[in-house]
Amino acid sequence: MMWKSFLCSPTRKPFRRVCIWLFMEPAGLFNLTCPFFLSKMKMMVTDSLKKRVEKLREEIEYHNYRYYVLDQPEISDAQYDRLMRELEKLEAEYPELRSPNSPTQRVGAPPLEEFDIVRHTLPMLSLANAFDENEARDFDKRVKKFLGSSEDVVYVAEPKLDGLAVELVYERGHLTVGSTRGDGVNGENITQNLRTIKTLPLQLVRKEIPVPEQLEARGEVIIQLEKFKELNRRREEMGEPLFANPRNAAAGSIRQLDPKVTRERPLEIYCYGIGGVAGRTFKTHWEILQTLPKWGLRTNPHIQRCHHIDEVFDYYQEMKEKRESLPYEIDGIVIKVDRIDLQTRLGEISRSPRWALAFKFEPKQETTKILDIIVQVGRTGALTPVAVMEPVRVGGVEVSRATLHNQDEIDRLDVRMGDTVIIQRAGDVIPEVVQVIASKRKGMEKKFRMPSKCPVCGAEVVKEEVIYRCIGLDCPAQLKGRIKHFASKRAMDIDGLGVKLIDRLVDKGLVKDVADLYYIKKEELIALERMAEKSAQNIIDAVEKSKTKPLGKFLFALGILHVGETTAEDLARHFPRLDEFFRLSEEDLMRVEGIGPEVSASVVQFFKDKKNRESIERLKKAGVKLIEPKVKEKGNLAGKTFVFTGALKDIGRDEVRNLVESLGGTTASSFSKKVDFVVVGEDPGAKLDKARELGIRILTEEEFKKMVQ
Ligand code: IVH
Repeated sequence: MMWKSFLCSPTRKPFRRVCIWLFMEPAGLFNLTCPFFLSKMKMMVTDSLKKRVEKLREEIEYHNYRYYVLDQPEISDAQYDRLMRELEKLEAEYPELRSPNSPTQRVGAPPLEEFDIVRHTLPMLSLANAFDENEARDFDKRVKKFLGSSEDVVYVAEPKLDGLAVELVYERGHLTVGSTRGDGVNGENITQNLRTIKTLPLQLVRKEIPVPEQLEARGEVIIQLEKFKELNRRREEMGEPLFANPRNAAAGSIRQLDPKVTRERPLEIYCYGIGGVAGRTFKTHWEILQTLPKWGLRTNPHIQRCHHIDEVFDYYQEMKEKRESLPYEIDGIVIKVDRIDLQTRLGEISRSPRWALAFKFEPKQETTKILDIIVQVGRTGALTPVAVMEPVRVGGVEVSRATLHNQDEIDRLDVRMGDTVIIQRAGDVIPEVVQVIASKRKGMEKKFRMPSKCPVCGAEVVKEEVIYRCIGLDCPAQLKGRIKHFASKRAMDIDGLGVKLIDRLVDKGLVKDVADLYYIKKEELIALERMAEKSAQNIIDAVEKSKTKPLGKFLFALGILHVGETTAEDLARHFPRLDEFFRLSEEDLMRVEGIGPEVSASVVQFFKDKKNRESIERLKKAGVKLIEPKVKEKGNLAGKTFVFTGALKDIGRDEVRNLVESLGGTTASSFSKKVDFVVVGEDPGAKLDKARELGIRILTEEEFKKMVQ
């Protein structure tokens, strides 16, 4: 039986081959029943396995050091997880290979030397991972089996925030020590830096409930995606190296020796649990999560209590969908047994608690190899270098191409053909190369240079700041790009007019300009290869349907250089009639907020161009009608300031803030002359008294809801 599983195991392919060869060896020199042969084979196997295990440990240790100490990871999380899982599996199958020095036996890596060391009173453990539903179901079964119960276990499900774990020690309500997780037992003292985080209280709030004698709160320090991008933009301007992702930015910022630097970084914190606590007991994890905010410690609004493992799966799906629209990165969910007494009974194994599990999403970063770098010509003639890579799954999608943006970016990253790189996908954005793993170089990698002639039409390429541009007037690549943009969903939205069909229409000479789309005849479409009558009719109908469009969409569809979707909307709001654009001067345009000289010059030039004017004339003649934008009504909360106190039943704090802002109002956390309303939830606390004192209008949650409806 053991031999059978050994022969079938994919990790032991070379041995399997040896075995099969030996088994079939014609002279019968090695007989499988021969005891000498068997023991020899076993030695060979254990020797090789030992080597593999040692190699894995060495590799994992090295990556821990890159990740934890240097903050310069060389491999993606997914690859790291794979190494760790392989090692865990081998150690589980072959107990004789276990060692106290294995990375599976400890939580992280040594902290940086420059910070003081803090010993956590209770170790900060890591989480076991599940990558699919079966593994998560196994966790539920394991929990029940361990507890010797077949009853459903209540879980708390939370987003797994992708940041840096910290511990905050509060003595009689005052923050005394803040530390990183470090190796789980010893962390780094980063109190000074944590004090700079605005979402973290320096003193616990004692208004609603008494504060405990001592509290060790634990949570994740993160940076929001938008703020991360802004941070990198600023670093680029200053010529400083960019952070690979928000997690690295958060880790790099919290480990600054100078707290002034940290203070400039947009760090935030969400608490997800506690270590030790003195002077207060909790029955459930849910109770902890409900109590922490009362002390001023922020918890994540997307937490949920689940009464059955299937509810956890629903939550997982929900969060997977929300993932793209959340302002921060999450890489999965965390499932925790709710009852503290059950948590205690379950205890921990090796480096993780038996009562919790990280149920991961597919990773958004992966490692792959660049096979080639090609050049694409866009609708404005801009040449974009694109990496052609060994296909790899990232965030649930297989990708084989990633943008390298421009030559400057290639130089900055020092990307070469043949390089091993980390790529990332964020939302529906085109994958990009974020980092080269220089240590994987073999010396055969080739540098890339932009061509001096357009690879599509052969015209001259000129350099404008960082952009290389084909100046060919009849470049088919530019024409195809313009038409694809014009027909795209966010522009004229011509359903069914896909990339391949556009290529054929241009190649056949049926479309030489965007206006030609509105003059195509059904017969011309049917005459194309692989085009049935029904499909042709669908396209004719879609073209017809696209004729009525808001002016903003139309301006965007024209593909004017530097005019993106938002600028197009802004322009349409200020100049609601298309005809006006033919007469606008740069000065007129510059009066619009957010529109600078570059955009103004580009718009004026576009509407001056004879070919563009003719094209717009032909579009109008074909029946394209533009809807003038309505002047945007201000929300019904315009100019009003709200303070919220106590928990609202139906809406989280972040959501309510967004809602108020979307309706033109603002929110404040404390009282001033400007506050118009106080909205009172459950357990409102002292703010309510203060509001009464100041004579500010008080609203219940129901009254507030009516107001915003
Ligand atoms: S609980 C024993 N909850 O994931 C429980 N961790 O892989 C330990 N993390 O070090 C952690 N979101 O940095 C917990 N809602 C959450 C989390 C979370 C992110 C991180 C944390 C931890 C790592 C474990």
